[in-house]
Amino acid sequence: MKVSITFLILGLFILLLEANPGIKVKITQKALDYGNQFGVELLKQKLKGKTFEDWNGESTYWFFALNYTISKIRIDNMELPNTSLSLISGTGIKLLVENASAIATADWSVETWLFKDSGSAAVFISGVNLTAIVNVSQNVFGHLKLSLDSCKADVDDMDIKLNQSYRWLYTYSTASLVKSLCSMLATNLCPQVNFVIQKINKDFSQYPVQAQVGNFAVIDYSLINSSTILESSINLDLKGTVYPVEEITEPPFKPTPFVLLNENNSMFYIGISEYLLQSASLAYFTSGAFTISAEQEEMLSSYFKLTTDTLESIIPTISHIHAKPLPVIMNIRITDAPVISLYDNKSILKFSASMEVLAKMPNSTTQSMFTLNITTRTHADLTIFNRRLLTTLCLNSFHSSLAHSNVGLFEASLLDNFLSYILRTGIIPAANFKLKDGFPLPALDPMILMKPSIRIYEGFLLISTDIQSLR
Ligand SMILES: *[C@@H]1O[C@H](CO)[C@@H](O)[C@H](O)[C@H]1NC(C)=O
Ligand SMILES: *[C@@H]1O[C@H](CO)[C@@H](O)[C@H](O)[C@H]1NC(C)=O
Ligand SMILES: *[C@@H]1O[C@H](CO)[C@@H](O)[C@H](O)[C@H]1NC(C)=O
Ligand SMILES: *[C@@H]1O[C@H](CO)[C@@H](O)[C@H](O)[C@H]1NC(C)=O
Ligand SMILES: *[C@@H]1O[C@H](CO)[C@@H](O)[C@H](O)[C@H]1NC(C)=O
Ligand SMILES: *[C@@H]1O[C@H](CO)[C@@H](O)[C@H](O)[C@H]1NC(C)=O
Ligand SMILES: *[C@@H]1O[C@H](CO)[C@@H](O)[C@H](O)[C@H]1NC(C)=O
Ligand SMILES: *[C@@H]1O[C@H](CO)[C@@H](O)[C@H](O)[C@H]1NC(C)=O
Ligand SMILES: *[C@@H]1O[C@H](CO)[C@@H](O)[C@H](O)[C@H]1NC(C)=O
Ligand SMILES: *[C@@H]1O[C@H](CO)[C@@H](O)[C@H](O)[C@H]1NC(C)=O
Ligand SMILES: *[C@@H]1O[C@H](CO)[C@@H](O)[C@H](O)[C@H]1NC(C)=O
Repeated sequence: MKVSITFLILGLFILLLEANPGIKVKITQKALDYGNQFGVELLKQKLKGKTFEDWNGESTYWFFALNYTISKIRIDNMELPNTSLSLISGTGIKLLVENASAIATADWSVETWLFKDSGSAAVFISGVNLTAIVNVSQNVFGHLKLSLDSCKADVDDMDIKLNQSYRWLYTYSTASLVKSLCSMLATNLCPQVNFVIQKINKDFSQYPVQAQVGNFAVIDYSLINSSTILESSINLDLKGTVYPVEEITEPPFKPTPFVLLNENNSMFYIGISEYLLQSASLAYFTSGAFTISAEQEEMLSSYFKLTTDTLESIIPTISHIHAKPLPVIMNIRITDAPVISLYDNKSILKFSASMEVLAKMPNSTTQSMFTLNITTRTHADLTIFNRRLLTTLCLNSFHSSLAHSNVGLFEASLLDNFLSYILRTGIIPAANFKLKDGFPLPALDPMILMKPSIRIYEGFLLISTDIQSLR
C-alpha cells in the first residue's frame, strides 16, 4: 500500500514554485502550518478512491507456505490527527506524522499447496508514524532543491476482517501475516516520500529562472546562495534583476543589502528592493517603453489646444516671429531611466525629460521654438487590488531649464505655471492611464491572497500576505 504522505509538503512547495519574483521571500511557520493543513486535505482528496498497486507476499503458518495477493486496495477513510511541518535551523524541514490511521478495502487471494481461495477484506491500519527530514538547498541553476536526509516509518497495527470461509486460516496465521503486512507498508512509506521529493525537484528544475514580463523586460528570479533556513522562517534570496528584453546585461549598479523585519503575523513576506525597481526602470527605458509616440504627442497637443499667442505673454519675441496665432505642438522625450527611491512610507520617482515646443505652420511643417529640460519628482501611491499591484503617480515638484531656443533667451521659470498645468492635467494623468492595469501578483491558483498589505521602507517595498485555498 503506497501511501504517499508527503503530499503534505507538496502542497506547500507548489506555493513556493510560484513565488513572486522579488528579492527576498520569507516564509513563516504560519505558512508551514497552513501548508500542513492544506497538505493533509490534499492528501486525503488524492488518496480517496485511488486504487493502489497489488501486493504479493509469502507467509508461513506452521508448515503451510502461504502465498497471498492483495489487490484493488482502496482507501475509504484516513485520519491524520497529528501531522506537523517544522523547521530545522540551517538544514531544512521536518515532517512529522503521528498516529495516522486508515480504513481500506481490498480483494485478497491465498494459495497454498493444499488450497486456493479469495475474497474481500476490510483493513484498519493504525498507529502509522513517520518522521522525515528534508534538506533544502539549491542547484547550480538557482532552483530550489530538496533532498531526503532521513526518514523513518512505523506501522503499529493492522486489523483485517475477511468476509470469506477461510477465516479460521486467517485467524491462525494472523500474527505473522499482520507483522509482514505492517513492515511491508512501513518500508514502502519512505521510498514514497523520496519519490514525491524527486517529483517536486523535477517540477522545480523545469521552472524557468528567467521569465519575460510584458513586451519589454525579462526578470531573473533564480535563487542566490545566501538563502537561509532559520528556526522560525525560510528565507529565500532571489536574484531579482530586470533586464531589457533584447539584451541580458547586468545593470551598472549593485543591490544594496536589506533586512526584512522580524515579523511573523503573515505567512509570506516579500521584499522588493529599490535595486529591482531601478533595474526594471532601466530595462523599460532601454527597451523603449517610455517612448512617447507621435500620436500620443498629437493627442496631448490637441487636448490643450495651445496656440502661439498663449505663450506670447511670457515670451514676447514669439509675436515678432509668428504674427498670426499658430497651433503649438509639444514633443516630449524621456531622456533617462526614471530614478526610483524608496524611503520610509514614501516612494519617489524622478523623471528627466526634454520638451520641444514647436509651431505648426499653415503648410503643416513645424518650426521649433524652444526646448526645455524638465526634471519631475512624483510620488507613487501603491495599493494591492484584485491581485494586482497598482501604482498612481502624483506630482510633487518639477524644475525646468532652457536647453535651446529659437525665440531668444528667456527665464525658463516663467513657464512654470504653464508646465505645471500641462504636467498635472495632461502628462501625469496620461502616465496613470498607462499604469492603470498594474503589475500582476503571482498566480497562485487556486489560492487567493488574504489581506495583502504593502509598506515602504528605506530601500525596499514589503508585501505581506496570507493565502487561502479556494477549494
Ligand atoms: C494529536 O491530535 C489530537 C487531535 O487533533 C490532539 O488533541 C492532540 O493534542 C495531538 N497530540 C499532539 C502530541 O500533538
Ligand atoms: C491514536 O489514535 C487513536 C484513535 O485513532 C486514539 O485512540 C489513541 O489514543 C491515539 N494515540 C496517541 C498516542 O495519540
Ligand atoms: C509461492 O510463490 C513462490 C514464488 O513466488 C513459489 O516458488 C512457491 O512455489 C509458491 N508457493 C505456493 C504454495 O504456491
Ligand atoms: C466477499 O466479498 C466478495 C467480493 O466483494 C463477494 O463477491 C462475496 O460474495 C463476499 N462473500 C461473503 C460471504 O460475504
Ligand atoms: C542535510 O544537511 C545536513 C546538515 O547540513 C548534512 O549533514 C547532511 O549530509 C545533509 N543531507 C543530505 C542528504 O544532503
Ligand atoms: C508512534 O508515535 C506515538 C507518539 O509519539 C507513540 O506513542 C507510538 O508508540 C509510535 N508508534 C510506533 C509504531 O512507533
Ligand atoms: C555563493 O556564490 C558566490 C558567487 O556566486 C561564491 O563566491 C560563494 O562562495 C558562494 N557561497 C556559498 C556559501 O556557496
Ligand atoms: C512569532 O514571534 C513571536 C515573538 O517573536 C513568538 O513569540 C511567536 O511564537 C511567533 N509565532 C509563530 C507562529 O512562530
Ligand atoms: C510610516 O507609517 C506608519 C503607519 O502609517 C507609521 O507607524 C510610521 O511611523 C511611519 N514611518 C515614518 C518614518 O513616517
Ligand atoms: C512652409 O512654410 C514655412 C513658413 O511659413 C516655410 O519656411 C517653409 O519653406 C514651407 N515649407 C514647405 C515645404 O512649403
Ligand atoms: C538638457 O538635457 C540634455 C540631456 O538630455 C543635456 O545634454 C543638456 O546639457 C541639458 N541642458 C541644460 C541646459 O540643462
